[in-house]
Amino acid sequence: MTIEKLRSRVAAELIRSRERTTYLTDVVDDGDLVRQHSPLMSPLVWDLAHVGNQEELWLVRDVGGREPVRSDIDELYDAFKHARVNRPALPLLGPAEARRYIGQVRSKVLDLVDTVALEGRRLTEGGFAFGMIVQHEQQHAETMLATHQLRRGPAVLGAQPPPEPPPESGTAVRGEVLVAGGPFTMGTSADPWALDNERPAHEVHLPPYFIDAAPVTNAEYQAFVDAGGYDDERWWTVEGWKHRKEAGLGGPMHWNGDGTYTRFGVTEPVRPDEPVVHVCFHEAQAYARWAGKRLPTEAEWEKAARFDPATGHSRRNPWGDDDWTPERANLGQRHLSPAPVGAYPKGASPLGVHQLIGDVWEWCDTGFHGYPGFTAFPYREYSEVFFRPGYKILRGGSFGTDVAACRGTFRNWDYPIRRQIFSGFRCARDMGAS
Ligand SMILES: [Fe+2]
Repeated sequence: MTIEKLRSRVAAELIRSRERTTYLTDVVDDGDLVRQHSPLMSPLVWDLAHVGNQEELWLVRDVGGREPVRSDIDELYDAFKHARVNRPALPLLGPAEARRYIGQVRSKVLDLVDTVALEGRRLTEGGFAFGMIVQHEQQHAETMLATHQLRRGPAVLGAQPPPEPPPESGTAVRGEVLVAGGPFTMGTSADPWALDNERPAHEVHLPPYFIDAAPVTNAEYQAFVDAGGYDDERWWTVEGWKHRKEAGLGGPMHWNGDGTYTRFGVTEPVRPDEPVVHVCFHEAQAYARWAGKRLPTEAEWEKAARFDPATGHSRRNPWGDDDWTPERANLGQRHLSPAPVGAYPKGASPLGVHQLIGDVWEWCDTGFHGYPGFTAFPYREYSEVFFRPGYKILRGGSFGTDVAACRGTFRNWDYPIRRQIFSGFRCARDMGAS
């Protein structure tokens, strides 16, 4: 890509990301913006100014070497200084002030995009710092969408309904796919906007395994609920069972217990063919055990998504190295729900595994760690400080994830009890197990 093309791509991505942020924050009134809708989430107005503050720190000050716009507020918007639960009590910028602030930062950044050198410094090579800020804003767009799901009150968000599967693909994506044993390349050293925890590319050997051709659906999960899965300690780990009892779990979050669920203020019948969403790792793991399976490891998930047996290479995404199109995966908040299983035959991986990207984040039974040869870049707080026990990996993005923050190598992580995120799963099993 030429430098001029790169500059226009960076500008377009920044503008596109801001449109999403603006939509998610303009669609509610000021009362909803400053309110905390759940102790798990920040007030939306915090996300709004935090997005601008990160952009200021990295692009205006570091990349651009410009004077601060508002150095007095850095501490308020430092995610490491204040837990989400405490953020409403901070002297935050109000909605109008926050909007003005992020607009000021953005106009300086759009000026920099045209002028700053994009070569000669690792931070700006290939537009990395700009890509990092685009991904950060899009990650907050997903966080803000999760806040919208926790908000009470009449529906405010509009979206297109998800696509239906083509008639012939409905049954083709049930069942399991056998992945042959052998090596594959995990992670990337080549993707210019990949984050530090996705690097470097390295070879991983896996024994043969089965993986589900599609995520577990609501109908399949309902069968686990109906079979008394939540009351049968056998299916749960000690930690999972303890949490199941303490939290009083009885089904996915936002299910109403009468065959309906509520999403973004709209209550409707649970769609049986749609991937189950808003389950925690413990619930996913209990379902898998009940089904005689297990959750995939992170490496198993990535091999199923990227490995092409015809070439022996790993692709950027299941459908190849080409960019995402709306026919390939349910990304970007176009549809505010997962799409039925089979809806994306054009997004299947070479091994025939469907809907790995988009729809729901998929829990993997792997903790968060750095790959061999990991180096923190550009700051330890992006990933390295989270390389400790207690997290589980999620892969593949959801309907709420933007394509800029999603690819076959992208890694997400969270606590195994979390389910306000758009989390689902698929199962795997050893070749010998049944
Ligand atoms: Fe952030």
